[in-house]
Amino acid sequence: MKEAGKILSYTVSENKIRVQYENQLAEITVLREDIVNVFVPCWSPEHYSKAIEGEKAVPTVFSSVMQDGNIMIETARLKVCIGDNLRIEFAKVDGTPLMKTCSGGRKFDGEVSEQIRQILESEGHDTSNMGARHYSVELVAEMDPCDDFYGLGDKSGFLNKKNYEYENWNSDIPQAHNEDYRALYKSIPFLICKKKKGAYGLFFDNTFHSYLNLGKENPQYFYYGADNGNLDFYFLGGDTIVELVQEYTYLTGTTPLPQLWTLGYQQSRWGYENAGQIREVACKYRELDIPCDVIHFDIDYMDGYRVFTWNEKDFGEPGELFTELGQQGYKAVTIIDPGTKVDEGYFMYDEGKKNGYFATDAQGEIYANEVWPGESNYPDFGRKEVRDWWGEHHRFLVEIGAAGIWNDMNEPASFRGELPEDVVFHDGERQTNHAEMHNVYGHYMSKATFDGLRMISDKRPFVITRACYAGTQKYSTVWTGDNQSLWSHLQMLVPQLCNLGMSGFAFCGTDVGGFGADVTPELLTRWVEAACFSPLFRNHSSKGSKRQEPWLFGNEVVNIYRKYVKLRYQFLPYLYDLFYQGEKTGLPVMRPLVLHYEDDPETHNLNGEFLVGENLLVAPVLEQGATQKMVYLPEGDWYDYWTGEKKSGSQYILRDAPLDMCPIYMKAGSMIPTYDVINYVGEKPYDTLYMLATPGAASYEHFQDNGEDYSYREGVYNLYAFSKGADEKLETKMIHENYKKYDRIVLRRIDK
Ligand code: NOJ
Repeated sequence: MKEAGKILSYTVSENKIRVQYENQLAEITVLREDIVNVFVPCWSPEHYSKAIEGEKAVPTVFSSVMQDGNIMIETARLKVCIGDNLRIEFAKVDGTPLMKTCSGGRKFDGEVSEQIRQILESEGHDTSNMGARHYSVELVAEMDPCDDFYGLGDKSGFLNKKNYEYENWNSDIPQAHNEDYRALYKSIPFLICKKKKGAYGLFFDNTFHSYLNLGKENPQYFYYGADNGNLDFYFLGGDTIVELVQEYTYLTGTTPLPQLWTLGYQQSRWGYENAGQIREVACKYRELDIPCDVIHFDIDYMDGYRVFTWNEKDFGEPGELFTELGQQGYKAVTIIDPGTKVDEGYFMYDEGKKNGYFATDAQGEIYANEVWPGESNYPDFGRKEVRDWWGEHHRFLVEIGAAGIWNDMNEPASFRGELPEDVVFHDGERQTNHAEMHNVYGHYMSKATFDGLRMISDKRPFVITRACYAGTQKYSTVWTGDNQSLWSHLQMLVPQLCNLGMSGFAFCGTDVGGFGADVTPELLTRWVEAACFSPLFRNHSSKGSKRQEPWLFGNEVVNIYRKYVKLRYQFLPYLYDLFYQGEKTGLPVMRPLVLHYEDDPETHNLNGEFLVGENLLVAPVLEQGATQKMVYLPEGDWYDYWTGEKKSGSQYILRDAPLDMCPIYMKAGSMIPTYDVINYVGEKPYDTLYMLATPGAASYEHFQDNGEDYSYREGVYNLYAFSKGADEKLETKMIHENYKKYDRIVLRRIDK
């Protein structure tokens, strides 16, 4: 990035401070007293944000003065100092330093020597990305030895991102996702920095290929770089990590309340090749008394992988199988890929071509690459017209009974090498290219799907996507893509889903059992234990791998599997409440301990346990052969869910954990709603609510509605306020009453 030079002048108008440097302009916008945007228009005068919808700046009181050559801005919560050469410092009003750009810039050794490069290449290593380089957009900030980093969406590795480097370039990675992978399917450039004292957040709103190096290059600083676009970042100055997540989701949106059945257990496999196989699976779950709400239909249900068609030869008349499954209480979710088969006479191809809906090469010819259907075109989802067209085509699937849509291959994937950067796409009506739109391809495809379903049906859309950008949480739930049946991938479940949650994606999950490779009975068992509290709970596996339904692994696995799927169904009202609250607060369902206990350094690197909401702690066994689990209990008293035994917190305990045991603890002085177990949501009405409680004064708000549509937004719901004092008697007050109430509300003590 070129040197900005000295500050020449500045002007203030409403929330904006425009700083004229010798060689550059910078705009500082005070959106709220705790959120400040820094915008350096090195590429375009507009933000062109794809993540933030609507105006987020509110009238805010702040001061700005020139002092010793620096512009000093102060709100009720933040102090910002802007100096020459884009030197920027953020501090709390009491002077506690937060972020400070690094005056000396980056200090690195530079290129890998030619000799080393040749040696590495002769050993088969890819050296194209080795060695440091400067980016056309760069921000370098000081790093203290105690700084810890979180967020960044689905990145591989551990919870704390310190000392690692990452890239934002949505990538379809079939190989095992190891901790050194820099990019996976999603680009969510939201970083949380936890300092010894205080914390702050940074959201880099730039969709071009970008890079985050968190002390790996040099422990004295971390940097953000991008290949193009503007330097456009939001500084979030909340006092706690909880507040940072709230601020980030204030900007990019919260995860909307899903339909209740979407929180049920789901079964999938790429490899169900005909209706018979699906029928068998559906019957088996009922026969074995393992609850299940959803069966997924992978690409084989389509006619030759043509989107919005049906393979009648193997799956019968369109709608027949869905009706049959519906009679057994199942919902069907169908996959839709973006790649549209090049095929004269196929309506999607013809319509797309006639109307100019597909991306073109730089010469204006429709661009084609290879995906499942063979030669395929890529809808230009950045245009509203294209999204409307695509969205409307879901009518076919909805009308034959599909209840949700699974968006895949939308990085976008391409088997014949990546799409060239100059392939022409649009952002609205503005013509641009693949380099800018790559990371938002899945985002706009999800939006097209969400908006389409919203228009076709009155139900809350259930969309699952593999690729996305910051803000996609408004339209879609996500899964972590093609993991494998490896213990290391089970271990990654905790940090990956916790970081996705802190990056706004409350509704996320992994392929239970692992997508690729062959699962072992023990791994599948431990996976279902770990995942039974993950928001999206779906067993999925790949063609060519061992089938992964629980009954293929013997009675012991079936029994344990049933136990945990049933546990999930018991806790459905708790998960649903967390989503209801999350729609308002942006807080996730599955949370790392550091979110609620950030002052306890023991939580900063906890990769093997998590909280569900604030009061339930889950510590799954994640290692082969282990029969004990070292559990860290944070401050306060905790009750063992299985035995009711009380344990003091702020310590590690060693819990026996034979194969059927996933240690779970509930905080003293808390209540959690539970239901009776049923085979699928809607099988029987939930007429009794059980408030599971630990000893001590506690209060809890519970939400109840029809679990399906938007009538709750018109006031059709109940909101209960439960409380219990030292006498351990449950009191119920109605905060809002406009729905059929439970017949019974029962208090259940965990320790009795
Ligand atoms: C890749 C997806 O990640 C996987 O879940 C799916 O089964 C295959 N594509 C086939 O559609």
